[in-house]
Formats: sequence, C-alpha cells, structure tokens
Amino acid sequence: MKFFIGNWKMFGVPKSINILHKINFFISKDKNRNKYRAIITPPYTLIESYSKYFRRKKIIIGSQNCYKKDPFSSNTAAVSPYMIRKVGATYTIIGHSDNRAEGDSNTDLKSKVELALKNKLKIIYCIGENKTQKINKKTFTVLKNQIVKVLNRKLKSNNIIIAYEPIWSIGTGKIPNNKDLLKTAIFIKKVVKKVFGKTLPVIYGGSVDENNVKMFKEIKEIDGFLIGGASKSAKKFIDIIKNYYR
Ligand code: 13P
Repeated sequence: MKFFIGNWKMFGVPKSINILHKINFFISKDKNRNKYRAIITPPYTLIESYSKYFRRKKIIIGSQNCYKKDPFSSNTAAVSPYMIRKVGATYTIIGHSDNRAEGDSNTDLKSKVELALKNKLKIIYCIGENKTQKINKKTFTVLKNQIVKVLNRKLKSNNIIIAYEPIWSIGTGKIPNNKDLLKTAIFIKKVVKKVFGKTLPVIYGGSVDENNVKMFKEIKEIDGFLIGGASKSAKKFIDIIKNYYR
C-alpha cells in the first residue's frame, strides 16, 4: 500500500473543499485506486466539515499536529488528540519540522504520539535533518535519535507511518539524489525494525511534485509521499498520483 498525503499547512477555507471534490472524483475512477491511500491534512478549522463530507469517500482526513495534553486542559489555542479524533480525523502528523522549530521537544513528541494512539489516531511521524547536519554527515545520527527518543516498542506500531522530510528540501525545489534517498530509506527501516521488531511504511516529503515523482518510483523502499505545496492544487496532486503509476 502506498500513501499520498497532502499537508496543507496554513492553507484553506471552507470552499477549498472543491479541491478535494476533484481529487475524490479522480480517485473514484482510477484503476489503481486499490494500490494507495490518499490522505489530506487541512488546518484544524476544516477537519470537522471535511471529515463529515468524505467519511464514505476516497479521501481520508487527518490533522497536522495535536497538543501534548489530553483531553482538555487550560492551554489557550491548544487542540488535543481527543478533540481531533472527536471531529472525525483518522490521522495526525506529529513532529513536522515546522513544529520542532517552534519548540516541540522529544518529550513533547513522545506524549503527543502516546495520546494520539490512545485516541485511535494513526500517526505520520516526521523526521529529517537540516542542511548543516547533512553537510556535516550527521544525517543518520539525527534520524536515529529522532526515532529512538520518541518511539518505542510498546506503541501500536500498526498505526505509525514514518515520514522522512529533509528540512533543506521542504519548499526549496531541492530533492535528495536517488542513491542517498535509497540509503537513507534503508537506514530508517533498519532503525525502525530494531525498535519495533518489524518495519513500518516510510514515506518521503520535500518538494515532491508532478514532474519529479517519477524519479522516486525506482526506490521501492519509499512507500509514498508527504506533499506540501503541490497538494493545494487538485491538478498537481492528481498528476502526482497519475505519474507515479504511469
Ligand atoms: P513541500 O512539498 O512544499 O516541500 O512541503 C513538504 C512538507 O513539509 C510536507 O509536510
């Protein structure tokens, strides 16, 4: 099973649902539709209405983050895993580099992961090195720490996807070369196997678009994509799926 996950970040108003109507229509007619799952993470404000609308359709709705406490607490503007689950989300992203940069520590992420799983949310756990770490050949050390400091064997591993998003690649148009990405995906799977005793899906994120997606096809270790910018356009998101299976 492959995953095409669109992370809208700070984008979207109620009528942006039209983008999802088009994507849903495409998937419902796509002969490859049983080979993949399409997930969209709109901002919190749209989760409830979109989840209701797409409940029995071809798009699964998730959230982009969740708070580290549950179910209710006195933290202004925070939204808990419990609250997210109750409005219909199936997935949540945890550990996106945007949120790590805004202060999410490993301890915070650990409690987010535990609480999200407790609320039956499936997790898209993001990891990735920055440019300096890459230049200093620290990528594997960074990735390993991001995995082992937050995930552990007691967690329900069936509900976890790992998203490898090198920070230097997000929104820059730069993507890793195939050889590096293959090595990194194999490394991540090895670490994950040590933690859980089995491998988990590993997806790639960072400047994925309808043109470069073909190059990732050759890397069988990559189980899908976390797509930012290109997921805000129905045409681009659909073309990514089309070109991947072409
Ligand atoms: P871009 O696809 O815009 O580079 O964003 C990737 C990302 O951060 C998805 O979570």
